[in-house]
Amino acid sequence: MTIAGFIRKKKVILDVDTGIDDAIAIMLALASPELEVLGITTVSGNIDLESATKNTLKVLKLIGREDIPVYKGAVKPLWRSIRYAKEVHGDCGLAGQLNDLEPGEAQSLSAGDFIKAQIERYPGEITLIMTGPETNLGLLLMQERNLALNLKEIIVMGGVANGRGNESPVAEFNIAIDPEAADLVFHSGAPLTMVGLDVTRKALLRRSDIDALKASEAVKRFVDLVTLEYRQRFAAVNGFEACLMHDPLAVAVAVDPSLVKCVHRYVGIETESRYCDGQTVCDFDDRWGKTPNAEVCVELDLERFLDLLTNRLNRY
Ligand code: RIB
Ligand code: CA
Repeated sequence: MTIAGFIRKKKVILDVDTGIDDAIAIMLALASPELEVLGITTVSGNIDLESATKNTLKVLKLIGREDIPVYKGAVKPLWRSIRYAKEVHGDCGLAGQLNDLEPGEAQSLSAGDFIKAQIERYPGEITLIMTGPETNLGLLLMQERNLALNLKEIIVMGGVANGRGNESPVAEFNIAIDPEAADLVFHSGAPLTMVGLDVTRKALLRRSDIDALKASEAVKRFVDLVTLEYRQRFAAVNGFEACLMHDPLAVAVAVDPSLVKCVHRYVGIETESRYCDGQTVCDFDDRWGKTPNAEVCVELDLERFLDLLTNRLNRY
């Protein structure tokens, strides 16, 4: 907040692997006056880099925000081979939606060069919201170890501090795809908030929430259809339709940090294990005596999150 009660916009860069929930996260960010989205960088994860980039451009076209520049990033993890999540997001990454939209063009500047240039232009002011594998920032940190010290904060959708993984028994997808990149990011020295499965598994967008949306017909139809198959798979297991809003919650935390309760702990990233690669090991009891490196989200105010998400989507 600044003088006269005007909200100072938070400068953000979204780093995405546009899939279903990344798409809704982008929509939330661009409907939130608290945020100034400087640009969107893409990375392979849910889907290949070209598709993630094309999907991002299509979402921007759908909401009339082709003014937001998009920059292509890493085509694969730092060292590991890539694997996608087509079983969740579909072969195109958006559950077959937006096929009728012709995407605009990504910028010629690379994602890494864009992020680096913006950090140099706005030292200490940028919030990097990462909702895919952390390869883009990992590559930058390999070249310039202290680069992230000039970020205001990093908000990561990734990991799970106390519970099961969704890519392996112990690892969450974004971390598991590129654990070495995550290790660099979690040890970058920048203030980092870990929005893990601990809270995103509670961030359920239910069919009733979608039915109640008052957004434009095109946006409401997109949110309904892009989440439909996911909701139906969820219902087959849980008895009711819902879509986990992993990535929108990371954006919501940037908008209103009070939506979550966090604990300041040391989180290590497993990179050399036969069974636990990609595990985010949270030292809740300070067994190791290491300096805490993350605000770990442990509780979510679901109703306030859903209010924020739906009210912002209704602005389209
Ligand atoms: O584990 C959930 C995360 O992996 C989300 O960001 C989803 O989009 C996938 O990237
Ligand atoms: Ca994602």
